[in-house]
Order: sequence, then structure tokens, then C-alpha cells
Amino acid sequence: MKTDRSDILACLRSSEDYVSGQQLCDRLGVSRTAVWKVIKQLKEEGYLIESVPSRGYRLVESPADVYSKSEIASRLHTKWAGQNLIFFESTGSTNPDAKRFAEEGAPHGTTVVADRQTAGRGRRGRSWESPAGSSIYFTVVIRPTFAPEKASMITLVMALSVAEAIHAATGLETGIKWPNDIVVNGKKVVGILTEMSMTPEMNEIQFLVAGVGVNVNHSGPEDFPEEIRQTATSLRIESGRRIDRAALLEQILARFEADYEIFERSCSLSELKTRYESRLVGRDTTVRVLDPAGEYTGISRGITETGELAVEKETGETVLVYAGEVSVRGLYGYV
Ligand code: BTN
Repeated sequence: MKTDRSDILACLRSSEDYVSGQQLCDRLGVSRTAVWKVIKQLKEEGYLIESVPSRGYRLVESPADVYSKSEIASRLHTKWAGQNLIFFESTGSTNPDAKRFAEEGAPHGTTVVADRQTAGRGRRGRSWESPAGSSIYFTVVIRPTFAPEKASMITLVMALSVAEAIHAATGLETGIKWPNDIVVNGKKVVGILTEMSMTPEMNEIQFLVAGVGVNVNHSGPEDFPEEIRQTATSLRIESGRRIDRAALLEQILARFEADYEIFERSCSLSELKTRYESRLVGRDTTVRVLDPAGEYTGISRGITETGELAVEKETGETVLVYAGEVSVRGLYGYV
């Protein structure tokens, strides 16, 4: 659901030339005064908009890295991903927010975005550092048509979409550390936390929420807490330039929508596997599988169509590793 502000921004952004006040009124079904008020507000926020009496308005420049509901919504060209957009300057965590909206009936694709989280959650009960102004934190509500045992694959689909979006936006080579961490130059830039809610009978998925945290504009390692300084990095640190968060988020949501639809056709990763494996970190190298039932090493051979990691042991036997409590490491360090 777009607001007048995001519609006006979208109109101005999609036109190289001036857009007349009348065109804006007709398109939005609002008065001239309403258009004028929005334009005035946008100018106050730093948008450089030229107003020429007989011609209308032209967006000359957007302020750098504006991160607001209107800015994000005005960029979206998706059918469902992010079309119901909820934006918080600050919240505890976008995952429980998304669950709450889903329980209240929010549609498939509803996306909760925050500039800051005060109780950001990571996997395995860890926290996720979420300061204001530097990163992307969002959660998408998914209402699947598939069985609960397929749900874990959504995290891999999201990892692929985010890895490719980052590559397209920044030129950085993104790798996926199975199942769903995204790394650049051996350090983590993205974490994904997917949670599932079942129907009361416990036989069907009510909804899933897929929460994504991207480290975007941290300027140096000192911006990370001591404990993760060796293993975390940001897109700005790696690319040497500030990244526009709204533009990247738009790319991520567009790719996720497309990839999810591909996934849904077969409810498997069959059509996404090649792309995923081309980014899989440590493929055909020796990895250590940290299984609570016993650690072992083997050669990572890629993923199956259902998202398990195939690891070939020294004995020649191939073990399928299921995501969950197991983590996989290279022999040297985090990746
Ligand atoms: C991980 O441990 O790698 C997963 C981190 C997931 C972080 C994201 S940020 C948006 C969403 N809200 C949260 O509290 N966590 C996820």
C-alpha cells in the first residue's frame, strides 16, 4: 500500500522530464494543494526538486541514503514482496513484529523494515547488533502453499536472492556459507533468521517469517562489537563506498519475489541449485561438520534439491547434512 508521498516520489523518479501538477493530481486522485504540500515536505527533507510554473516538477537529486517508508515504497516494482510495507525508526526486532502482523492477517509479502533494532535476534539464541543509520534489517511474511518439511529451503532461497542483489548493487563477490550466511572476502555481511508458525493442528504452516540483517555502511571494524570484529564486515568496508540502503532493499525484495516464485513451481531448489552452488563457499574443499552427535571432516560437494549439504567422507560415503543444529566450517577460521 503506497502513500501519496511514495506515489509522488515514484512518479518523479520514473520521469526524466517535468511532471505537471495536474498529472500528479490525476494519477493520485488528490488536490493540487495536497501535491504541493508533499513536494514542499520532500524538499524540506533534502530532495532537490525543480518547480517550473508552466511545466511542473522534476526530481534532480535525492538526498544520500534516505531510509524511510516513502523512499523504499516509491522504489518498489514488485507484485507482493514489500507491497504491504511497515517501517519503524526503531523496534525491538522485526521478526516478532512480522509474526504479530501475520497473526493479525497481514498478507503474503508483508515486509517489516527497521532503521534500528533494540533486541535484534540471531540464530541459536544469539543477538544481532542493530544500530541506527547503518544497516538493513527486515522481515518478510510468507504464507506458503507447501508442507512444513519444505520450509527450511526458504532460507536458502533468501540467501541466494540477497547474495545476488548485493553483487548487482556493489560489484562485490558474495559467497554463501551454507546454509544461509553471506560472506564477502571471508567475512560475514548478512545473517538470516527464518521462523515458522504452525496451524493449531500442527500439520500445516500458518506462516513463515524470514528476517534478514545486512551490514551495509559500517565504516570500519571498530563499528562492530569486539566479539565479531574478526568475522564480520560491511559492504562499505569491502567496496570502499557508501551504499544506498533503500535501493539495495528494493533489489533484494524484487529478486526474492522472483526466486520464491521459481521455488514454488516445484517446491524444491531444482531450478535455483546451480546459481546457489556457484556462490557456495568451500565447494570441493575439506570442511568440518560440527554435528552435536560427533564432528567429522569431508569434502563439500554442493547441495541437494532439498537444501542439504552433501559431504563426502574419507570412506567415500556421502552424508547429507541437514541445517539446524549443525554448522559447517572450513578447516581454517570462520568460512
Ligand atoms: C544470524 O544469526 O546469522 C541471523 C541474523 C538475522 C538478523 C535479522 S535482522 C532482521 C531480523 N530481525 C531480527 O531480530 N533478526 C533478523
